[in-house]
Amino acid sequence: MCGIVGYAGPRPTVRPSDPAGGEALAVVLEGLRRLEYRGYDSAGVAVVAEADGHDGPGGGAHALHVTKRAGRLARLVEALEAEPVPDAAAAIGHTRWATHGGPTDANAHPHTSADGRLAVIHNGIIENYAALKAELLEQGVPFTSQTDTEVVAHLLGRAVAAGADLTTAMREVCRDLEGAFTLLAVHVDAPGTVVGARRNSPLVVGLGDGANYLGSDVAAFIGRTRDALELGQDQVVTITATSVEVTGFDGAPVTPRAFTVDWDAAAAEKGGYQWYMDKEIHEQPKAVADTLLGRTDASGALVLDELRMDTAVLRRTDKIIVIACGTAAYAGHVAKYAIEHWCRIPVEVELAHEFRYRDPVLTERTLVVAISQSGETMDVVMAIRHAREQGAKVLAICNTQGATIPRESDAALYTHAGPEVAVASTKAFLAQITACYLLGLYLAQLRGNMFADEVRTVLGQLHGMPDAVQTVLDRSEEVRKLAHELADSKSVLFLGRHVGFPVALEGALKLKELAYLHAEGFAAGELKHGPIALVEEGQPVFVIVPSPDSRDSLHAKVVSNAQEVRARGARTIVIAEDGDDAVLGSADLVVRVPRVPTLMAPLVTVVPLQVFAMEVASAKGLDVDQPRNLAKSVTVE
Ligand code: F6R
Repeated sequence: MCGIVGYAGPRPTVRPSDPAGGEALAVVLEGLRRLEYRGYDSAGVAVVAEADGHDGPGGGAHALHVTKRAGRLARLVEALEAEPVPDAAAAIGHTRWATHGGPTDANAHPHTSADGRLAVIHNGIIENYAALKAELLEQGVPFTSQTDTEVVAHLLGRAVAAGADLTTAMREVCRDLEGAFTLLAVHVDAPGTVVGARRNSPLVVGLGDGANYLGSDVAAFIGRTRDALELGQDQVVTITATSVEVTGFDGAPVTPRAFTVDWDAAAAEKGGYQWYMDKEIHEQPKAVADTLLGRTDASGALVLDELRMDTAVLRRTDKIIVIACGTAAYAGHVAKYAIEHWCRIPVEVELAHEFRYRDPVLTERTLVVAISQSGETMDVVMAIRHAREQGAKVLAICNTQGATIPRESDAALYTHAGPEVAVASTKAFLAQITACYLLGLYLAQLRGNMFADEVRTVLGQLHGMPDAVQTVLDRSEEVRKLAHELADSKSVLFLGRHVGFPVALEGALKLKELAYLHAEGFAAGELKHGPIALVEEGQPVFVIVPSPDSRDSLHAKVVSNAQEVRARGARTIVIAEDGDDAVLGSADLVVRVPRVPTLMAPLVTVVPLQVFAMEVASAKGLDVDQPRNLAKSVTVE
């Protein structure tokens, strides 16, 4: 939620009246464009530029220029074109997902101090802002917005006016703040400097050649550098063109961990697709293949060296609890079937935001698996903290290097899906299932639940999945057509059983979030306990049919469920494997997927559902990549 970019570079070589904004603005706008998925209610920039030319070593006096607009980034760009800002050695930019105060120009960031000399941007929620605001109002400080952030602008501005340098002021103010925040500030007295701080909210540093960067995630500066630093909890960073200094809120120096981003700017572009989502759906074979890459030794045994978790911990694990939200939780739900089957360890799947409120039973033998694409979902972060406080070990499955969730976990297993920009998660889901399966097989291998050849067989099946997913993609035309036919539906239902159940839930989630239409996923067996009453003439129902080779009579039962709804007027769209003719009598349309082993089926059956949701949204003229009210990275609870 909210995207943040900061830039400190060389003093401009052009005069302020020359090309508007120059490098500083270009960097910040490029960063905001890449971060817009994090929030798109409003956008704004601030630069500290020389007010009266460049002559003399320190330049002349400096002035703060702030431009901000409600709405998408394009509105900010129009405003900057109409009224350019001068080039500068330091700039900050923000794209907002509104929390305190509606999406208006006044509530857009940056916010400025009462003296107009400092600008600040913020991601997160300042929980004690009301008390701080009351104090400031009592002292006569004028407020111009309804945001919690403006409090910080006034507090920082006042601290600098009282003689503190911007870094010291940031440390002082942060110590008084409660809640979650990433803050970036610039001040006219510190030209060429950006100061950032973080608590419970993401911030990474990009190390350039003669310029340095700050961002909510590495996408902010990936077009400029792949060398980055992770910032820890309660740390302040000060960047100039040539220096990066990090301290704790207490002033103690800190040496942050350096890392290199393993993807480049091209990976974050649309690559000829109309939507990022379409591109990301098409990247799914690669996401699965890359997540499997380099995980076996010469003998074919599974090695997960990067886990860096004591194998004794994994051997003694007697319960696994998966914590995640949304699509990531459904990936966990799929994994439950596989891990319990392979390892004989009970697996619970819990929505992260519910986890700590139900007082879960955790011991040192509990392994908590936290799944997150962004690595920043605050509900998951808080659940991880709770689990660790209770003595459980936490293993993160994450797609984002340098993110909070892997950093706060005992161990991490990365998915290698590459950057996921569309708000709706697709390739991360497949990569998460793949990573969870690797973890399950690894545990089974370690604990002796499976023989080496059994592990090798399943690994071989996993390695076959990129081709199977590609086959589904190659056949997606029929689903695209269907989406256009059904675009005016009022409601769509999804039925599945076993691993098809979380797939049904995921199909419904995709349709809700992208096409804004009522959709529900059900365990097909639950139908007769109530939901079948929803079925009326013409009701579209997707039925995810398991392989005839799956457990017991599962296949026959799901086919019966399809017949039951069809008998009551439903229009059934049946997803079934090649050659399964038993479904023909219960389907208005059969969408074929390649024949794969039972536990691998979610990797193929979910794909038509993703394509369907994207196409329905597209047919309705909606913004597929940035659905209303949502943000990619949910960094508030
Ligand atoms: C749905 C979607 C969300 C995320 C959820 C968790 O398409 O994208 O439901 O899956 O917000 O996000 P991460 O995986 O970043 O923790």
